[in-house]
This record gives sequence, C-alpha cells and structure tokens, in this order.
Amino acid sequence: MGIGPVLFSGEQIAQRVAELGSAVRRDYEGRPLAIVAVLHGAVTFVSDLLTHLGPDVTVEFLQASSYGSGTASGGQVTLQRYGRLGVAGRDVLIVDDIVDSGHTLAAVRKAVEAMGAASVRTCVLLDKPSRRQVPVAIDFRGFEVPDLFVVGYGLDHAGRYRDLPYIAALKGGG
Ligand code: IMP
Ligand code: MG
Repeated sequence: MGIGPVLFSGEQIAQRVAELGSAVRRDYEGRPLAIVAVLHGAVTFVSDLLTHLGPDVTVEFLQASSYGSGTASGGQVTLQRYGRLGVAGRDVLIVDDIVDSGHTLAAVRKAVEAMGAASVRTCVLLDKPSRRQVPVAIDFRGFEVPDLFVVGYGLDHAGRYRDLPYIAALKGGG
C-alpha cells in the first residue's frame, strides 16, 4: 500500500485549523476550556489548534483503540486515560482526527460525561459521514471526506504516515 492522491494540502489544513480555532475561541470567550484530545491520531491537529485558542485552555489526553492494523473499525472501543482527567464541572471540548463509524467519539463522549463535565462539545478535523454507524454530534468540523482511508497530519495506517504534512488517500486500502 502506498500514498494516493492528496486530498488536503498543508496550506489548506493550516487555514482550516485557524478557522476552527477562531470559532472555538469565539464560542468560549471568557470561559476556561478543557480540551480532551484522543490519542494518537489527534496529536498533530490538537497541537496546531491549540495555537489559536488563547491562554485559558487545558489539554488532556485519552487513548482510544478500536483499529488493529486494518482499515475498518470493530465497534469495540477501549479507552485508556493518562493521569486524572480534570474535567469535572468544566466545559469540555473533545478533539479527534476523524469520525468514521462514530463509535470512538460516542465512547469518549460517554466517558467524559460520566466524569461530570459541565458541558461537552466535539471538534474533529475530518468527517466521513458515509461510514456512520452511530449518530454523533460534531460541533466543529474541518472537512468532509469520502469513503477512503486517509493518512497524514497525524492519521496513520498501521502506525505509518503520521508524519506527512498533508492528508492523502491510502492507495490500495480502505
Ligand atoms: P470510528 O470509531 O469508526 O469513528 O473511528 C474513529 C477512529 O478510527 C479515529 O479516531 C481514527 O483514529 C481511526 N480512523 C478512522 N478512519 C480513519 C482513516 O481514514 N485514516 C486513519 N485513521 C482512521
Ligand atoms: Mg483516533
């Protein structure tokens, strides 16, 4: 498997991330925000997003696993937290790289709500709506993508290609 067509260039991504950042910052003006980012795919996105958000933002991480080395979600999501997530009573924004079946975002949301968050919204860079199996609310969305397996800008296939500064379709995958 190799890299197919580029879907979003580094410049397009940077511009969209800045727009999302401005929208988030505007919405939470004057209110501290607790970001919960989903490892590992969201690392690049959340780092760049953070630079647009102002000083009153904390960032914490949850690891979600549902994919093995294949390209289809199993629907069984395992969550692992890093330290104590300080989300009780806070306005939380869940940040992830991509929503495919929706199982991951739904599981993360449920966990964050169970920890007593005051409010929960979601921000995802990519949305693959044609693959949805469970409904999930996306409050801030970067781009919609067709039913292709995509890599780059933090998104991997079997641990590879996270380094690419652009987002491309995987050739021969999906
Ligand atoms: P879902 O649970 O099926 O919505 O899958 C969401 C998770 O699967 C995302 O957080 C990604 O880590 C991973 N994922 C889904 N589609 C892709 C893709 O096209 N490329 C890379 N990772 C993906
Ligand atoms: Mg992920």
